[in-house]
Amino acid sequence: MRTCLTVSVRNRIEIVHGVNLDQLGRRDPAVYGGLTFDALEYQITKWAADMGLSTRFFQTNYEGQLVEHFHKLEGLADAIIINPGAWTHYAWAIRDALEIAGLPTIEVHLSDVKHREEWRRVSVIEDLCLATVSGQGPEGYHVALERLKEALDG
Ligand code: DQA
Repeated sequence: MRTCLTVSVRNRIEIVHGVNLDQLGRRDPAVYGGLTFDALEYQITKWAADMGLSTRFFQTNYEGQLVEHFHKLEGLADAIIINPGAWTHYAWAIRDALEIAGLPTIEVHLSDVKHREEWRRVSVIEDLCLATVSGQGPEGYHVALERLKEALDG
């Protein structure tokens, strides 16, 4: 009799950015900091690599594209970090697609959305997520990676 041992490593993090996040570096630095979007992705990649996590990045300004991205994610990622931008506050179709993806997810916001305008206090994805990290700038992604590593290792 042969015994076959399969070791599966769950370490693939899908980092998803929604509308207007590609414009970081041009947005109000007092709210979003001075990092460009490329610099942010570079920093996240480094943090993840140090933790033994692999990353893939996806950004779009088109809601339907993000919905389809989630539809096709099965088998390609183990967890998601998402900053949906303004879609956070009203995009129910993105919430439904995230639910279909069915992966452990952390919601991240650079700014402190709970202490800005009233309309930013609502998140339509919040209850699908393991946690929400907001108001910590880029460091929030570091916190999210650590939290997902714990969840995937546990
Ligand atoms: C954001 C907060 C949203 O309210 C805003 O629309 C964004 C960025 C953040 O990262 O702080 O585009 O998600």
